[in-house]
Amino acid sequence: MVRASVVGAGMTKFGVHDSPLQELFGQAAFEAFDDAGVDPADIEAFYFGNAMGGQTENDTHLAPKLASHVGIAGVPAQRFEDACATSANAFKHAVEAVESGRHDVVLAGGVERCTPVTGKDTPEMTTIFASASHRQYEQPTGLTFPGVFALLTKRHMHEYGTTEEQLAEVAVKNHAHGQLNDRAHFGKQTSVEEVLEGPVVADPFRLMDCCPFSDGASAVVVVSEEKAAAFDRPVDVVGLGHATDVAPICDKHTPHATQAARDAAAQAYAQAGWDGSEVDFAEVHDCFTGAEVMASEAIGLIEDGQGGVAAAEGRTSLGGEIPINPSGGLKAKGHPIGATGTAQIVELTEQLRGIAGERQVPDATRAVAHNLGGDAATTLVTAMEARL
Ligand code: COA
Repeated sequence: MVRASVVGAGMTKFGVHDSPLQELFGQAAFEAFDDAGVDPADIEAFYFGNAMGGQTENDTHLAPKLASHVGIAGVPAQRFEDACATSANAFKHAVEAVESGRHDVVLAGGVERCTPVTGKDTPEMTTIFASASHRQYEQPTGLTFPGVFALLTKRHMHEYGTTEEQLAEVAVKNHAHGQLNDRAHFGKQTSVEEVLEGPVVADPFRLMDCCPFSDGASAVVVVSEEKAAAFDRPVDVVGLGHATDVAPICDKHTPHATQAARDAAAQAYAQAGWDGSEVDFAEVHDCFTGAEVMASEAIGLIEDGQGGVAAAEGRTSLGGEIPINPSGGLKAKGHPIGATGTAQIVELTEQLRGIAGERQVPDATRAVAHNLGGDAATTLVTAMEARL
């Protein structure tokens, strides 16, 4: 099996965009082409994520539409939908297409618009997002995604004594990181006091514990290891884990342990030949502060039960022992659902090339991205290495 490498990365600023999905994705894709130095004619296949375009803006069958817009009509093009893990799965398939020898140069990415530019307000978007929860057991109860992660986090608090103050520290850290990222949705700092005084969204989460609804797009160019040698600063994909957990959450034995993340991380680390103790930094799926705490433990970066303590002690901040979400994460960078997974890969690529500017993790050579979907039922963990 050949290995795959990322040789080009692009993304829009995350926030509010009134351009149609095609144009938004085009910005990210052309940036990735330029970064790689490839021509659209070089692209042999296209894998991308868009979770909810049909429900949010009556826009489906996006594969040929996006391909046409970025000048690659004619190549096989495939849309993925895995709730919030949508574009990590698209990226995984792009990497596998290269690893299998089927294609040499592939475009992967994602795009989504979730703000009121779609004509949908917060209650409507919350209802649409809830379609990713269990149709028979969760949706009839009125469970929303802030509610799903609030339940998992409450269990974590019960098991380990994690506090609301520790959760708030995660938000403070990610807003501090997001301030260093000019593509982040939010550029403003917050404080533990501000987080704890915010309106309750779903106990224990307050406004500042939640990621926002965002619009945005991200894209990467993936090539075979052999071709990568001809490119400037390729970053190698050395592990791809993908696992599912039982859904609905009432059937999970240890809901706070997020088993799919543990399984996906084990797969990725086995392929990489290293584990969480050797990771220099990570991008994890912090859709809510409690989700980052559980993810950092599940993928082996922090001891079980200590995710909140680690954030409060600064261990997961830039400059700390294991920086988590140097981009600002979903909390501050934003969360345009289908664009989030490949945006994490963009951050890993820039950091491992040493070009992340003020938020650069010094001497970073090994990193992981953790992207989850639905009621913690799908998780992908991607391990990447700088080519030294
Ligand atoms: N973090 C920080 N600030 C936020 C924010 C967030 N998540 N969401 C909104 N704000 C800010 C807005 O910028 C705005 O500030 P301003 O008054 O200075 O302009 C203010 O709060 C009100 O914004 P509004 O859009 O009216 O918020 P809302 O009450 O409609 O929605 C949430 C806030 C938290 C309920 C909404 O963002 C949410 O549901 N987030 C979770 C999304 C989700 O579930 N994603 C899937 C994850 S699995």
